[in-house]
Amino acid sequence: MRIRARMAMSVDGYVTTPTGWPAHTADPAFASGASHGIREFLQDCEQALMGRTTFEPALGHDRWPWPTLQVFVLGSHRPAGTPDHVVTDSDPARLLEKLRAANQCGDVHLVGGPRTIQTFHALGALDTLELVVVPLLFGGGMRLTPALSPTTGLVLRRQRALPGGSVEIVYACEGSRAPLPDAPPGLR
Ligand SMILES: NC(=O)c1ccc[n+]([C@@H]2O[C@H](COP(=O)([O-])OP(=O)(O)OC[C@H]3O[C@@H](n4cnc5c(N)ncnc54)[C@H](OP(=O)(O)O)[C@@H]3O)[C@@H](O)[C@H]2O)c1
Repeated sequence: MRIRARMAMSVDGYVTTPTGWPAHTADPAFASGASHGIREFLQDCEQALMGRTTFEPALGHDRWPWPTLQVFVLGSHRPAGTPDHVVTDSDPARLLEKLRAANQCGDVHLVGGPRTIQTFHALGALDTLELVVVPLLFGGGMRLTPALSPTTGLVLRRQRALPGGSVEIVYACEGSRAPLPDAPPGLR
């Protein structure tokens, strides 16, 4: 099983719109049915893992967003209305144990958000960071960092252009890289 974080982001590096919606939902191609490669991605996945902040809005949706996946949610409490089949826990290591115990060899879609991605990265459980860069500039919103450690080591595995002008970039998360150099003398 691989734990694969997949996030949409704007060209200027925001994973949410200024009002807090996931980046891909602002793409006009999303409204006209573009999947941003998610259907192919999900073919290999059997579980979805996410933070409570990302999970909670799904409880108000007309359509359950993860019909083919077993859902695991990290959070201090079980949100009201959470279906019985969803596994929740406040402890990331314990939730990971439950997820591994239930896993039948399929991949795990680590949905987000940034804080939960970092939590599983810190446990050494993040295998890939898969980004879908949508062809939009937001000018504000939530960034992947600093929640996800800026020293996360990334090794490019593949990239492809998606219909609608987005680009998918897949990195393996391998160890950590050195901090960025100090500013040049004139800029200090
Ligand atoms: N662009 C995309 O593709 C994409 C995908 C997913 C989400 N998003 C966006 O990401 C935003 C949310 O991101 P986020 O990083 O703020 O929240 P998040 O990761 O979705 O959820 C954070 C919550 O998860 C729990 N949690 C996280 N780490 C924990 C730890 N180490 N120990 C215990 N509990 C922990 C806590 O729940 P409690 O508060 O209950 O303790 C925490 O408040 C939303 O605006 C969403 O739209 C974007």
